Amino acid sequence: MPRLLRALRTRLASARRAGSRLFERALGIDTAGIVELAQLDAEGFEREGYEGSGWLDLRRMLRPGEVKPDDVFLDLGSGKGRVLMLAARYPFARVIGVELSERLNAIARRNLEAGRRRRRCKQVELITSDVLDYEIPDDATVVYMYNPFRGATFQVVIAKLIASVDRRPRTVRLIYLNPKEHDRLKATGRFRLERKAGRLRLRRSEAARSYIRLYALEAR
Ligand SMILES: C[S@@+](CC[C@H](N)C(=O)[O-])C[C@H]1O[C@@H](n2cnc3c(N)ncnc32)[C@H](O)[C@@H]1O
Repeated sequence: MPRLLRALRTRLASARRAGSRLFERALGIDTAGIVELAQLDAEGFEREGYEGSGWLDLRRMLRPGEVKPDDVFLDLGSGKGRVLMLAARYPFARVIGVELSERLNAIARRNLEAGRRRRRCKQVELITSDVLDYEIPDDATVVYMYNPFRGATFQVVIAKLIASVDRRPRTVRLIYLNPKEHDRLKATGRFRLERKAGRLRLRRSEAARSYIRLYALEAR
């Protein structure tokens, strides 16, 4: 890539980051930026660090009117709670975030408090746990993941999700941003791809996270 174009892209990306920090400061929230798990003493095999989803990602996969009052939203690897804030604007019965780092969860708690007035869902729960120690609730119907973990960890979580749906028959919609483990989902033979969208990106390195997919999982 020509040097001028590369420099322009870098400038645009840093202007965008600065813009989003200013925008968030004005709203009294903090969901921007990238946090490596090493900075939180939480690094580990197959775990990915923090970066918030785009503000429009959830809306693109889940339109208003597609959530019923008995639906329950679960974000696995909820970080600073950006997606929880957005999900709480839908009429979910409950919104649950599961996050490895208590430091990120403390930030999420403050963010949710700052956005309280815009909530339609009254019950928002933040759980600090490794997803491997967490039991998926049998009423969860919309599960969100922004590439939080890989490999065997991902596989265990998906097996727990399938077991939950077979135990208490229902349809679960799985929204998966930067779906690096798409092949593992496909290999289960249980997830039907229902929607997908590309995302605008400024840098080639962002290409991988530029997909978001919605799958349906039904009981057997
Ligand atoms: C890319 S961030 C996504 C944050 C949020 N879901 C969003 O979309 O804005 C992934 C998050 O998963 C968390 N995570 C990674 N491994 C985890 C694990 N084993 N259990 C729970 N959370 C984990 C990280 O700490 C990080 O906050």
